[in-house]
Amino acid sequence: GSPILQHPRQSSKQRFVADLSQCLFDFVIQLLPTQEEMAVKEDVRKLLERLIRTIEPDSRLLSFGSTANGFSLRNSDMDLCCLIDSEDKLAAADLVTMLGDLLERETKFHVKTLPHARIPIVKLTLDPSPGLPHGIACDIGFENRLALENTRLLMCYAMIDPTRVRTLVLFLKVWSKRRKINSPYKGTLSSYGYVLLVIYYLVHVKNPPVLPNLQQMPPLRPITKEETHLNGFNIWFFDDIDLLRQRWVSENPDSVAELLIDFFRYYARDFQYNTGVASIRSGLLKKEAKGWQNDYSGGRYDPSRERNRLCIEDPFEIDYNVARCVTKDGLYTIRGEFMRAARVLATRPDRAIVALAELCE
Ligand code: CTP
Ligand code: MG
Repeated sequence: GSPILQHPRQSSKQRFVADLSQCLFDFVIQLLPTQEEMAVKEDVRKLLERLIRTIEPDSRLLSFGSTANGFSLRNSDMDLCCLIDSEDKLAAADLVTMLGDLLERETKFHVKTLPHARIPIVKLTLDPSPGLPHGIACDIGFENRLALENTRLLMCYAMIDPTRVRTLVLFLKVWSKRRKINSPYKGTLSSYGYVLLVIYYLVHVKNPPVLPNLQQMPPLRPITKEETHLNGFNIWFFDDIDLLRQRWVSENPDSVAELLIDFFRYYARDFQYNTGVASIRSGLLKKEAKGWQNDYSGGRYDPSRERNRLCIEDPFEIDYNVARCVTKDGLYTIRGEFMRAARVLATRPDRAIVALAELCE
């Protein structure tokens, strides 16, 4: 090819990519929660903690999920976890019921309790008011220590390369919500699932990687099994982020826009949905090796029981498929959306802002 003709084409691509990166930053920044919103949420946490302590004096109420991991959007739900430090504590199911009654009596929250869920839970909502135009939605779970740890893991990943990781994750959260593929109750994927897909891609797909694998780095000092295990799961990961930021420099120079374009291409085209398991701890695994193929054996195949259309291994609870709520239709829709997004970005409209608007419409 002629170097004279090639040059302008390349630079138009480069321009689009630089433009798109800038648009992504600007777009994401205006969706971050305000200081005021964060302060209100902290007040709500303290108030709820005070109320819970009237039932269980040795309890603590901690934030996890997006309010604690650096991936929070404006008006996102609050995830709270109640830990009880005393020896003879109430059973979680009883505490959920008692707390539900108390909150119903003493506060303006609408209360719903799920005492017998995998993680017993109290769901609260507060109607919108002048000071809180979007109200508040809050889930209080009990003794969910693994969720506190996986929140800390995601936060560490966000802190290693805040610009690229946070921008990508926040954009994908908004995109998945706008495209209506962010509802585990309706057969699509939770935000947590999308975050794991992003980290998997940055650690294991990109070469050179954008992020190190924090769960496989050598510890700085010998550690015992008691220190590293919780409920039988290995929860150790390298969490000295100050040190890591001095020591670890990614050799991957890609901009946010390039990473986003390639992320969509990868999940539209290359990820092996039928056989693969995305594991941020171990890389690409096989469904077969984990016993996660949908079970056709034994004659009848019952689609309502299928759990493993899309497989994303939890970073700590490795026998838990984070995407187990994703149905056949849900996965079809999600893959369709990855393809649509890849297509929109590949056509490279004149202005990046147009591409963004089209992506999220
Ligand atoms: N979580 C989990 N297993 C799941 C889903 C969620 O352990 N299958 C825990 C994780 O600790 C996660 C937290 O619950 O960080 C919140 O999950 P989710 O609400 O999906 O993510 P957020 O980052 O809070 O996103 P959003 O702002 O959409 O609420
Ligand atoms: Mg949440």
